[in-house]
Amino acid sequence: MEGTTAETTSGNEGQDFSGNYIENFQNKGVEEFFAGKYVSWEKKGHAFIIHGQHASLEITIIDQDILKFRHGNDGYFEDDFSYAIDPNYEPPLTEYKFEELKASFVIKTAILRCYVSKESLSVKITNLDGTVIHQDEKGYHWQEHKYHGGTINICTKVLHKGEKFYGLGDKTGKLNLIGTKRQLWGTDCYGYGNDTDPVYKNIPFYLGQHSQVGYGIFMDNTFRSYFDFGKERDSVSSFWAQGGEMRYYFIYGPKLLDVTRKYTQLTGKPQLPPKWALGYHQSKWSYYPESVVRKLAEEFRSRKIPCDVIHLDIDYMDGFRCFTWDKKKFPKPHKMIADLKQDGFKTIVIIDPGIKIDKGYKVYEQGRKGDHFCKRMDGALLKASVWPGPCHFPDFTKKRTRKWWGTLYEGLVNDGVDGVWNDMNEPATFEDGTFPNDVRFDYDGHPCSHRKAHNVYGSLMAQATCEGQQRYLDNKRAFTITRSAYAGVQRYASVWTGDNSASWEQLKLANIQCQRLSASGVSFAGSDVGGFIGSPNGELFTRWIQMAVFHPFFRTHSSGDHGDKEPWKFDQQYVDIVRTFIEMRYRILPYIYTVFWQYSTTGLPMLRSLHMEAHIDPETFYREEEFLLGEHLLICPISEEKATSRLMYLPKGVWYNYWTDQLEEGQREIKVDAPLNQIPLFVRAGSIIPEQPVMQYVGEFVIEELTLNFYKPYIDTTSEIYEDRGDGMEHKDGQYLHKTYVSQQTDDLKWKVKQSCEGQYATEYSNYLGKFHGLDGMPSSILVDGQELILEAESVGQVIQVKLPKNFNEILIN
Ligand code: GLC
Repeated sequence: MEGTTAETTSGNEGQDFSGNYIENFQNKGVEEFFAGKYVSWEKKGHAFIIHGQHASLEITIIDQDILKFRHGNDGYFEDDFSYAIDPNYEPPLTEYKFEELKASFVIKTAILRCYVSKESLSVKITNLDGTVIHQDEKGYHWQEHKYHGGTINICTKVLHKGEKFYGLGDKTGKLNLIGTKRQLWGTDCYGYGNDTDPVYKNIPFYLGQHSQVGYGIFMDNTFRSYFDFGKERDSVSSFWAQGGEMRYYFIYGPKLLDVTRKYTQLTGKPQLPPKWALGYHQSKWSYYPESVVRKLAEEFRSRKIPCDVIHLDIDYMDGFRCFTWDKKKFPKPHKMIADLKQDGFKTIVIIDPGIKIDKGYKVYEQGRKGDHFCKRMDGALLKASVWPGPCHFPDFTKKRTRKWWGTLYEGLVNDGVDGVWNDMNEPATFEDGTFPNDVRFDYDGHPCSHRKAHNVYGSLMAQATCEGQQRYLDNKRAFTITRSAYAGVQRYASVWTGDNSASWEQLKLANIQCQRLSASGVSFAGSDVGGFIGSPNGELFTRWIQMAVFHPFFRTHSSGDHGDKEPWKFDQQYVDIVRTFIEMRYRILPYIYTVFWQYSTTGLPMLRSLHMEAHIDPETFYREEEFLLGEHLLICPISEEKATSRLMYLPKGVWYNYWTDQLEEGQREIKVDAPLNQIPLFVRAGSIIPEQPVMQYVGEFVIEELTLNFYKPYIDTTSEIYEDRGDGMEHKDGQYLHKTYVSQQTDDLKWKVKQSCEGQYATEYSNYLGKFHGLDGMPSSILVDGQELILEAESVGQVIQVKLPKNFNEILIN
């Protein structure tokens, strides 16, 4: 390293190996190095490699608005291997230019300019109007930690005035990350609070916005990593990892929604889930024995509270041995699951990674014989305790092991299990919290230690689980939910936010966590409704349910030690409201399914924080409770006890109060009534919201009529409805319907709605029930494809209701 531009420091105090590398490194045996001056450059494929005296910088043009940066110390790059990038992602062919200027090089795309200084190899990115979006401060450098033998690769960036930061997966605290430093090291954090960091998931992707322009940074590095958003120095943001090459992607918006969309395309879009997975789930640690599960199912049906899924937590197993049943508690699982299915319930079972060390236990024996378990550095098998006592743990970073793990699901799938819940996969252990750092991993042919594999362990377990189930599910869609995850997990699984608690503060936090996950590519997320730990009172439970109706994953779960959380365990007034809201989830399921389809085809997040929706409106920058589900529904949860109204902000546009149809002009704060039986809910003017009849579970009966709610437009507004069978794979062969609606006010102030349709799926219903909102009284006529509809007297109220043929092309309301 001689002759670098390094600041060299010395000293022998122990380095705090859990962070604070940027500050306080003086006198701690840390040497810091920089790339130095430019020496030469070369082109490889769509990448330009600029060699400096001491490090090289590779910039790949992924798309005209996505650049990938890799820094190779001493001129060497690591193998360019990633678990996060979707193997099916095909970078679009894009045009660019590379030019040498006097003091720098510049890469020009149709959208960006990326300058690299010849003096220091530091980087500056602007858009075409010259706005500097992203710029190195000290830029890339690395530190050698003498007393711990580690290299820390760091990027420091200029923090722009008023810059805001969002995303970073599942993090606690405020939605805007400014002024905080966050760590990614998946941790089992039972009872976490608003300040707990790190938590379970590791998604090294954040969004930044300043000067009305949004961008994203994805540092594709699985080592323990850190992100500082102006905490150590308020003019600097930085990110670094405790090992591994510095590799990151810059993604240009300019809208934050587009940053998430592009990031999700890069790291993978999810498959469509089975529709039932978007219904209501009931869980507890644990429902057993069989009679309790049957009773639970009966209660739902007899009380007419819709429910699609029952989760079985660890006590269904024989001594917590994964892939077994406790035959005393569940003598005939196949029969029980089949009976539940008859009654419309799906069964999900939990599977943890720890395999009990137990001679004769099939999974343990196979794991040993097949060399599937993780080993310590010296070759001995890793032994650590979780629920079953001492266990070995599969190395999910080995392809062969993921395949083997997949085969273990054959039995459960044959038993009728419909989905799998993966837990404790940070990985968590009872002795030390996680594996010792020396544990070895295959990392798909790139052998490494736990330091590198830890943060991706949960995602790879979920991948193995999802692929395994799919193998045995025939023509059904797999469903997996995981607690820990790395970037890209959305390709395989949904997630929940772990062991939260029953408090108002945590209701608010759950909302922020789900929005943040959604901004980070992981829309299929939810919280333990009512809180895992502690007992919510009826009001808190009701308010949480009301919010979670609009979160993509909707499950009540409870530790079971603090009282029951089945909806009927609360006073009758709450039960009735909770029932109405779970019913509402089922009524708007066609809308939610459509929003999921939009996510799975475009990568657009399902939940959209206000600052994503209205990204240049300063009023939205610090608002964290209001969110949109899809493009057209705006929700603001009630997060304070005894509140019967609240203030909220409506973004630009015109909005209908869902409960009263009252019109509200956006871009202002309003006070909204929110008695216990209502949550502030608004519908975008011009949108078309489909609703199905209330059912007790997805597919309970044939839908004979789909309701379309037409909200009168003020500007041209597009809506979509996506339908298919709700399970199976035929939708990939054209068995779907994708309908597009354009709703507009014509020049002569009439209201016109056009419908177009593609796909071959034959819906069960033959007509729509059209509900027209926002008309001032009786229209003089409604023409459907030129034919005037006869308006019955009873169809005329505040909302005009008429039957409509499902294949209409155009409706004209006069
Ligand atoms: C963990 C999970 C929780 C589960 C429990 C028992 O704490 O986060 O959801 O109920 O383990 O399996």
